Amino acid sequence: MAGPGGSGAGGRGVVISDNWPGYSLDLFTYPQHYYGDLEYVLIPHGIIVDRTERLAKDIVQDIGDNDIVVLCVLKGGYKFCADLVEHIKNLSRNSERFISMKVDFVRLKSYHDIVGTGRTMKVLLNTIEKYKPKMIKVASLLVKRTSRPDGYRPDYYGFEIPDLFVVGYALDYNEHFRDLNHICVINDHGKAKYRV
Ligand code: HPA
Ligand code: MG
Repeated sequence: MAGPGGSGAGGRGVVISDNWPGYSLDLFTYPQHYYGDLEYVLIPHGIIVDRTERLAKDIVQDIGDNDIVVLCVLKGGYKFCADLVEHIKNLSRNSERFISMKVDFVRLKSYHDIVGTGRTMKVLLNTIEKYKPKMIKVASLLVKRTSRPDGYRPDYYGFEIPDLFVVGYALDYNEHFRDLNHICVINDHGKAKYRV
């Protein structure tokens, strides 16, 4: 999977470096109930959607003649899953063959929305393997850059981000901020306000 245009060309996905200051919140719109709670925009919604479209294209290319069963990991994965499925559907509509998709959902106790260490993902993959699917691929919007050298890497991912706590685009802080479209970093005020 290498070469120009192939999925290997994405390498580490879009890498957001540790010193990336983000975008000022004043440049975008976001729900009024979060005014004062956020530090900055790490990834604007439009970029998330555009990057997801490219992941969909890579997946469609790799999938060949197979149909797909999409397993969405709730709750944090629902936005990414919905947008990815929509893009795959649109791409396949414009090709010779409509890819058939089933969509199902799982919720993992203490699952952390994001591929961090990947430990939970490995447990899920072991469970899925028992059903002997022809192919298993993992797509994650974000991968956190942690200090672990044995870090798990999904087959497809959108962004490699610093080891920061992020919210928005279905990712929560104590169930809040899922209704924020951009991926943002919360400030101390926001942390205190929604602390449980
Ligand atoms: N945001 C939301 N939930 C999470 C995160 C994060 O950055 N990391 C682990 N769970
Ligand atoms: Mg959560």
